[in-house]
Amino acid sequence: MKIAVLTGAGISAESGLKTFRDSNGLWEGHDVMEVASPEGFARNPELVLEFYNQRRRQLLEVGPNAAHLALAEMEKEHEVVIITQNVDDLHERAGSSRIVHLHGELLKVRSTFDETLVMDWKEDLNLGDMCENNHQLRPHIVWFGEAVPMIEVAVELVAAADCVMIVGTSMQVYPAAGLIQYTTPGAQVHFIDPNPSISSSHRISVYAEKATTGVPKAIQAINSFS
Ligand code: APR
Repeated sequence: MKIAVLTGAGISAESGLKTFRDSNGLWEGHDVMEVASPEGFARNPELVLEFYNQRRRQLLEVGPNAAHLALAEMEKEHEVVIITQNVDDLHERAGSSRIVHLHGELLKVRSTFDETLVMDWKEDLNLGDMCENNHQLRPHIVWFGEAVPMIEVAVELVAAADCVMIVGTSMQVYPAAGLIQYTTPGAQVHFIDPNPSISSSHRISVYAEKATTGVPKAIQAINSFS
């Protein structure tokens, strides 16, 4: 079966990474437009670079959890693609092999002059770290107000899926949140979130619980149908 899995920050919560909009979330301590927008980067690049340096250092301290691992395992039975809003590499480290990052990747940076110049980067990124053409490097992250280049690919993958799983997202940020509109009428939807933002219906099964218990349950339900 073709399965498209849309994940958000909630799937990485049990790995120890903060979500954005839960209490004590990332956006509680920061003004989004100050640390995650091109204007913020132009106004105060050190603040923005330090925000991502802190998140990059923390990412290197944590690992994938049972939900990431269960999704990787699912590839043995089904054709799975992960469409993630997350910028961590926990799906990769869990072993998933088809991953679309809608909002970029924390362990990559790119030239501020030529955005096709992208490179792996695991240490702190500071002012003065330049690309090969001597332009400042920036996090390879989609900031608020910037285009989401992979959204067309994601729409096609959701529209082609026999089954869609949505894990750990508040469904508040578009265009990612709009992907649920592209599920085909015959596709089953499995929604896993302790505080679900949508309700069950004839084709939407909601698991109001954490990813590490909800994802394996949803996979069991999918396997019993297939
Ligand atoms: N398991 C599953 N879901 C969880 C867990 C958990 N253990 N803990 C929290 N959640 C859920 C919350 O209930 C919430 O619905 O994860 C969701 C997190 O929502 P947000 O913090 O809004 O994160 P997300 O939906 O990924 O944000 C989307 O917004 O700020 C931008 O670019 C950023 O990619 C991000 C986008």
